[in-house]
Amino acid sequence: MAKSVKTIGVLTSGGDAPGMNAAIRGVVRTAIHQGLKVKGIMRGYAGLLQEEIVDMDSTSVSDIIHRGGTILYTARCMEFTTPEGQEQGAEICRKHGIDGIVVIGGDGSFRGAGKLAALGINTIGVPGTIDLDIACTDYTIGFDTAVNTAMEAIDKIRDTSTSHERCSIIEVMGRNAGYIALWCGIANGAEDILLPERYDGDEQALINRVIENRKRGKKHNIIINAEGIGHSASMARRIEAATGIETRATILGHMQRGGTPTCKDRVYASIMGSKAALLLAEGKSNRLVAYKNGDYVDFDIQEALNMKKDIQEDQYEIAKMLVR
Ligand code: ADP
Ligand code: F6P
Repeated sequence: MAKSVKTIGVLTSGGDAPGMNAAIRGVVRTAIHQGLKVKGIMRGYAGLLQEEIVDMDSTSVSDIIHRGGTILYTARCMEFTTPEGQEQGAEICRKHGIDGIVVIGGDGSFRGAGKLAALGINTIGVPGTIDLDIACTDYTIGFDTAVNTAMEAIDKIRDTSTSHERCSIIEVMGRNAGYIALWCGIANGAEDILLPERYDGDEQALINRVIENRKRGKKHNIIINAEGIGHSASMARRIEAATGIETRATILGHMQRGGTPTCKDRVYASIMGSKAALLLAEGKSNRLVAYKNGDYVDFDIQEALNMKKDIQEDQYEIAKMLVR
């Protein structure tokens, strides 16, 4: 049964993602428009347990839409994975008069959100992660900025790789998912794309393709490797030893998570944040805001967490076709 809320909290949890600030702004301004009070919970669930809770008004979110990172900071918190930690979190919400929460984060954060909902705090999740690895949604906040940042960096590496007629392995983030690698692979016209979802570990085949490409006159050889596979430095050494072609590894790392959010991330994050606050204002709980088949929708948190997601095979096949 719908339970009305008067005061809501908002937190960011897990890895930060460009666009999280736009989502926070969407939550805060929409909630105020709906006549709700808003509190910011600093440093995710860790800050909740430490009662790092601040009042927010419309001006608290001024001048942030274009900024990367999260003004609320973020953290990972083991204590909140325990039933005692969750009960304490719900108790702290009640103590501060918080009867609804928007959790902006990834799958782990939503597990926590589901627990809070079960303990009577109305909870709505908003997908914020550069990894795009949340099954119920075609879009996650930060992915667009991250792939654009990575793409630009890879273009630069390509210039020097061509000049030196080298092979380059470039490792991109994504945890166990290969979406960033696949998108960069296509956008940067990479010679090879190694995805955790598809890589069979056949390094000899990879080496053979490097040799073949050089015979066909390719000056560079860009291999995009997903962090879920890793080992880029040792792979580079083995490729160089086997092919005689100078090979360098670059791990792009956390640069992919920072920077000013793209237009897409600002707009989608603003709308998702706003939708989350509207769901709370309607008395909804235990829902995840998602973008599916061109529409903003919402799912039951547990159903969403049970969904599975995989790289689209046709996209992977096309990516492979375009490098030949
Ligand atoms: P993400 O949300 O990006 O997937 P994590 O997996 O690190 O990032 O999760 C973020 C936080 O969510 C964790 O540090 C923890 O506080 C909370 N969390 C993760 N899993 C659970 C769980 N099973 N139950 C409750 N809280 C969880
Ligand atoms: O989930 C986002 C992400 O950047 C992943 O791509 C990566 O595996 C992880 O977070 C890195 O986490 P940390 O910043 O804690 O090293």
